[in-house]
Formats: sequence, structure tokens, C-alpha cells
Amino acid sequence: MIDVLLGLQFGDEGKGKIVDVLAPNYKVIARFQGGPNAGHTLEFDAQKYVLHQIPSGIFRQGTSNIIGNGVVIDPVILKREIENLVQKGFELGGTLCISKRAAIITPTHRLLDAAYEQAKGDKKIGSTLKGIGPTYQDKIGRHGLRIGDILSEKFTEKYEHLKQQHLAVLAHYHVEADLDEMEQSFFDAVNFLKAFKIDDTEYLVNEQIKAGGKVLAEGAQGSLLDVDFGTYPFVTSSSTMAAGACIGLGVAPRNIGEVFGIAKAYTTRVGSGPFPTELFDELGELLRKEGNEFGATTGRPRRCGWIDIPALRYAIMINGVSQLFLMKVDVLNIFDEIKICKAYRLEDGSTTEKFPFDLVDQKAEPIYETVPGWKTSLKGIRDFDQLPDALKNYVLYLEQLLELPITIISTGPDRVDTIFR
Ligand code: GDP
Ligand code: IMO
Ligand code: MG
Repeated sequence: MIDVLLGLQFGDEGKGKIVDVLAPNYKVIARFQGGPNAGHTLEFDAQKYVLHQIPSGIFRQGTSNIIGNGVVIDPVILKREIENLVQKGFELGGTLCISKRAAIITPTHRLLDAAYEQAKGDKKIGSTLKGIGPTYQDKIGRHGLRIGDILSEKFTEKYEHLKQQHLAVLAHYHVEADLDEMEQSFFDAVNFLKAFKIDDTEYLVNEQIKAGGKVLAEGAQGSLLDVDFGTYPFVTSSSTMAAGACIGLGVAPRNIGEVFGIAKAYTTRVGSGPFPTELFDELGELLRKEGNEFGATTGRPRRCGWIDIPALRYAIMINGVSQLFLMKVDVLNIFDEIKICKAYRLEDGSTTEKFPFDLVDQKAEPIYETVPGWKTSLKGIRDFDQLPDALKNYVLYLEQLLELPITIISTGPDRVDTIFR
């Protein structure tokens, strides 16, 4: 079976931390979409690590880590990530495997990303500018490059061909590209990656499943950034959903086991786009400060707001979530009261508990219920029963609203700050 772990909000829910916590139960951890736009943070032994393309099982001995076909890979960033880990004493040559079918982000993809954003002016998406959109565009357009291509003599030729296409578009946007340095490090990185395991990872994953080994698919971004179901056009360019794991790894839907949905006890978003429960006052500022809400990839401050039940219910529905993990509850420690958005009021005065098709031109005003905070530290608590009553009630109430069990509660960034129920 393959379990899927994914974010139910706008990303940064704490996926990296939980994959690392669960990894010892799995033979394989596999990323299935996204690329270096992701920033997955792990903390243990007083050290902090941020992974962008390497799966978050990499620190657990005995797990294989696969970068699946659905991922878009920037060789330059991957080389840097690998070198950083090796420098810190982690040996990952044997445990990392890259799909031949994964798409390659080239230097001109990054330039195109920036050019498209610039042209959008105040309608910009707030992309991480890692070249994600243009690379997926080329993949779907059937003229992209794939990791397997780097093993062929024709790679430079294919690269040049794609580059010429990109340069024509860049000229249209009046971008003059000085590519020498970028190409130098691109080809350095491409050569570096040849020493790693590059394989038909769909066979590896399916052989594992057939032999009864457990596989965990690690999502990136979040359901509200999904290209079909997110707040389009303010989304990323991949399928961030549970179904995306099938396509991004080459596994059949019937092999999906548990779907773990991860949500913060509040909501954050980085980049532009609709965010009904966003707080623009000192409470939002406080969430940002307490939660240390700054992007793991770009360092940008994250927008903060209260938990959004209609959005979570929507994400749970489209993903078939079977268990919920509630993250960063400790961030709410200092709040007297906590708000829960239970429905929206639309511009025509009607109310809805559904996640609207259009949140860009039509505003949805949250309708809140207020519950008491717990106003106490959670340090050292490892048992649900020892949590303050107000927090237990918050968790039980969310379970009731979302109609799912909350089986993990995270009370801090470190591996050990994790309560299992
Ligand atoms: P991901 O992209 O979903 O892996 O999440 P990020 O790593 O981008 O952002 C989550 C941030 O919250 C990281 O800085 C984590 O170290 C941190 N974090 C994770 N879980 C908790 C928690 O329960 N409490 C607190 N205070 N921080 C947490
Ligand atoms: P993880 O995996 C939060 C956001 C960007 C932007 C939009 C499109 O760490 O949760 P893109 O670079 O994909 O073209 O950006 O999506 N975004 C993320 N926000 N967490 C992420 O990943 C994100 N990856 C992309 O900020 O609004
Ligand atoms: Mg992140």
C-alpha cells in the first residue's frame, strides 16, 4: 500500500516535520509533485534542515527516498541540497533515487517565470520564481527535458533547442539573458547528478508495494494551491492532491491506503491570492511572530489568519483524507480567544459552507465562532490527556466539524514535540 501525506491549506503546514516523524514506519518516502518551490523544515538534535527537492525521509536510516516522475527538478538546487547534507555528515548516495521521467528546470525556465510575473504587474501570483510554472508548461506542451535525457549524448542538443525557444519568448518580454554563468552551473550540476541513482522509479515503487513494503508519498504545497481545485489563478502548476500521487509516482488508485491530511491550527499563505480568514491587525502580526511564519524557501513573511472549516472540508473531500494531523497548536498558546470560520457570507448576502469557485472577484466574508484559548505552555507534554482542557476541547470540536479523527497533534518544530492519539 501507499499512504499519502499532504497539506490541506496553502502549503507550509508542517509536512516535512511529520514525514520525518513517520519515516521509520516506511520503506520508501517519495515526492510526487512540485519542485524547489517547496521548503520542508525538519528539526531534531537541536539542528534545523530545510529540504526543497529531497524527500523528508532522508535522515532515517533504512528508508529509500525517491524523487518521482511528477516532480520538476532544478539540478543546480538539487546539487546544492545534496552537498549541504554531505557536508553535515549525511551519506545519501545509496538512499536517493531520481525518476528518469522527472522534468528538468533549466536556467531559462527561471527567467521565464520572472518575466511572466513581471508582466502580470499587480496581478502577480507571488511565485517562488523557481521556474515551476514554465517547466510544467513545457512538460504538458510535450517539448520539455527529462532527467533520463541527461544520460544521453543528445542532451546538449535537446537543451539548446529548448533554450532557443525560450530566448524567443524572453525577447518578446524584452529580457536580455546573460546565461554564461547560469549555464556553467547548470551543466556542472547535471554532470554531478549522473553519479546518483537515476531509474524507472515507477518499477521501484510498485515492486515495493507488491512485496508488502510500505511507501509514503510526500506532498508539496497544499490543496488550496492545487492547479484544479485551488484559488486559481493564484495556485501552483501541479496536482497537489492525493490523486496526484498516482500520476506523480506511477501507482494505481487502488493501492492508496491512508490519506493523511495536515493542517495548522490556524491558516497561513505566502504569495498573492484570496485568503478569506486573513488577519490584517495585530492578531495576524502575533500569529506571524509566534509561529515564526516566514517562508522556508523565499524568506517572505507569511500572511496569517484563523482556521477555515469550509476550506478544510473541501480539501478533505477532494483528497479522501482518512486522518487529520493538527500542527502548530503551541502557536495559539498566548491567545485569549480563538476563532473558527464555519461559513462564508457572500457579496449577495447569502451564506455558504462550500468553498466558492471564485474568491478573486467575489469576496467571501468569514462567519466566526469564538472558543476560549488555553493560555499556557505545552512544553514537555507528550500525552493527549495532559493537554489543557481548552485545547482538548478545541481538538474534539474540530474533529466534530471535520468529521475525521485527529490522530497527531504537533506542539513544536522538533521531532519529539509530537503527540499521537
Ligand atoms: P512544510 O512546507 O509543510 O514542510 O512546512 P514548512 O517547513 O515550510 O513550515 C512549517 C514551519 O513550522 C517550520 O518552520 C517548522 O519547523 C515549524 N513547525 C512544524 N510543526 C510545528 C509545531 O507544531 N509548532 C511550531 N511552533 N512550529 C512547527
Ligand atoms: P511547501 O511544500 C507555500 C506558492 C507561492 C505562490 C504560488 C505559486 O513548502 O508547502 P510557484 O513557485 O509554485 O509558481 O508559486 O504558490 N507556493 C507555496 N506556498 N508553500 C509551498 O510549498 C509553496 N510552493 C509554492 O508562494 O503563491
Ligand atoms: Mg514549506
